Amino acid sequence: MVERKVVSIVGAGNVGEHVASLLLLKGLVDVRLFDIPRQTEDKVFEPVKGKALDMKQMVAAMDIDSKVDGFTVSPEGEGYEPIVNSDIVVITAGFPRRPGMSREDLLETNVKILSTIISKVRHYSPDAILIVVTNPVDIMTYAAYRLSGFPQNRVIGMAGVLDSARFKTFIAEELRVSPKDIHAYVIGGHGDEMVPLISMSNVGGIPLKDLIPKDRLHELIERTRFGGGEIVNLMGTSAYYAPAAAVVDMVEALVTNSRRILPCSVYLDGEAGEYYGVKGFCVGVPVKLGSDGVEEIIKVPMIEEERQMWERSVESVKKSIEVAEVFLGG
Ligand code: APR
Repeated sequence: MVERKVVSIVGAGNVGEHVASLLLLKGLVDVRLFDIPRQTEDKVFEPVKGKALDMKQMVAAMDIDSKVDGFTVSPEGEGYEPIVNSDIVVITAGFPRRPGMSREDLLETNVKILSTIISKVRHYSPDAILIVVTNPVDIMTYAAYRLSGFPQNRVIGMAGVLDSARFKTFIAEELRVSPKDIHAYVIGGHGDEMVPLISMSNVGGIPLKDLIPKDRLHELIERTRFGGGEIVNLMGTSAYYAPAAAVVDMVEALVTNSRRILPCSVYLDGEAGEYYGVKGFCVGVPVKLGSDGVEEIIKVPMIEEERQMWERSVESVKKSIEVAEVFLGG
């Protein structure tokens, strides 16, 4: 029997369940899903078990022998025993902002949820690599880094791969080329102030700025910045296909030790932090992903205009980090 790495996913909502099904369809890993029960007036549902059973039958139908199981956990942290010995733990658990809730309230709620999950991961899978998806992702990645005590190479936030995929989609449509031949990185905080690295972006080796007029490029960048919002406006809920695919891209790089360069939110300090002007928090930069997690932080050259955008982006992440520190007790 093939020994596959184990990817546990905590939070089997829209993003988590799509991560699971994409991973299973690739037959790369075994998957364990964790989520809380759903209580209605007269019944307690366990959707995570139902989803896992459905996926088990999906892989059987497709002649894939990756394993999948679902486990109901309590918000207080009961039921996490099966997360034991996971190689990677993907965290999407959390709640979206509800009417009347401030950003700070949301942050406090999601940091509390994260804290319970991390304490269980530390206990049962102390060597796992964490991939944080819950928003605001740079802040939640920082919180996961602080709460886990894991080394910085094993705590990775998903944002840049998604933002870059969105940017590539719009460029591909504009130029009528395959997204495969587009190299375009989006770095910085995952928010309105993300930084597209135009000076480095190219299509089949030709600089992007030579292919798309400046004004039009600006429109594509704006569409990328508000790419998440555009989907929320259409669907009434946040995106999940592309976010899930971005997580899968990262997981694949880790489990195949492919050493791909992908933009991810990571804890920056030391020499790389100095290069990026970040001391002790998480922001998106290109990194090399292999079996040890983040194997290298790439110091990407930026032209003056990009540097300025970068500094604005970092400043806005830093402000939110200061708010989060209150909940992290530091
Ligand atoms: N323990 C485990 N799971 C939890 C807990 C908890 N304490 N609290 C909430 N969850 C689960 C919810 O039950 C839900 O199934 O987290 C899941 C979140 O899924 P969705 O609400 O469907 O959200 P989704 O669209 O998947 O987004 C997840 O990713 O992209 C980000 O902004 C997005 O922060 C959000 C996250």
